[in-house]
Amino acid sequence: MYHKKRIVISLKDKISLNKLPSHLAVIMDGNGRWAKSKGKFRVFGHKNGVKSVREITEGCAELGIKYLTLYAFSTENWNRPKTEVSALMNLLVDTIGKELKTLTENNIKLKTIGDISKLPDNTRNALLDCIENTKDNTRMTLILALNYSSRWELVEATKSIAQKVNDGELSPENIDENTVNAHLSTAGIPDPELMIRTSGELRISNYLLWQLAYSELYFTDVMWPDFSKEHLYEALIDFQKRERRFGQTSDQISINS
Ligand code: IPE
Ligand code: IPE
Ligand code: MG
Repeated sequence: MYHKKRIVISLKDKISLNKLPSHLAVIMDGNGRWAKSKGKFRVFGHKNGVKSVREITEGCAELGIKYLTLYAFSTENWNRPKTEVSALMNLLVDTIGKELKTLTENNIKLKTIGDISKLPDNTRNALLDCIENTKDNTRMTLILALNYSSRWELVEATKSIAQKVNDGELSPENIDENTVNAHLSTAGIPDPELMIRTSGELRISNYLLWQLAYSELYFTDVMWPDFSKEHLYEALIDFQKRERRFGQTSDQISINS
């Protein structure tokens, strides 16, 4: 019998592998609204968001992106109803436990940014365990921003720089951009060349303010639980069409490239 073969063309083939961002930052947004539109509780949206985390992590690793930072819980998210906060924390424990094997098999290192000391003990312990178990992995680093906010991070960096000045280890005139970089929770990690936010919100929400200084921003109306690899490829293709000028003129850029 004759079977018609369905040929699926993926946007992946349109991506230039030599023009990928080394660091992709994402604000995973819209879980609650996605669930609500289906007549479900918000937590249902968070649970389905995990699937997208898996897809995008895999998609980035397959392409060869070295760093992926996901905004998972902001310092402001503590203001949500207690039940939602604890559901999110439990979901995190669950997910980390389940994904450790996949991270290991795929040679992916887990890291967090944010004050994880304030997370519930079981959540923090699951994270620390996974971080320890994946610390020698080299293919990609997955960074979860947890109890993170950029202003918190900048305050912390300021405090430790001030302490060094106070202790006589550093003189104020020697403070430059590198000093600040070295005191952020992203020390040693390149700035994201691209930041994606899902769900149609057009804001940064206290995310990587210093590090995003020259990032390309990509906003999509797709809700996070619907965000698939193809959506990721679409964002990367869009990014690759942009001209990153860093203050120079377009003519200067074309002469130098
Ligand atoms: C993002 O989805 C997940 C977290 C912030 C933890 P939201 O929960 O913000 O979903 P919306 O924005 O209310 O739809
Ligand atoms: C930002 O999303 C934080 C995370 C994605 C974890 P929110 O949905 O909390 O952002 P705002 O408060 O609506 O800007
Ligand atoms: Mg939101």
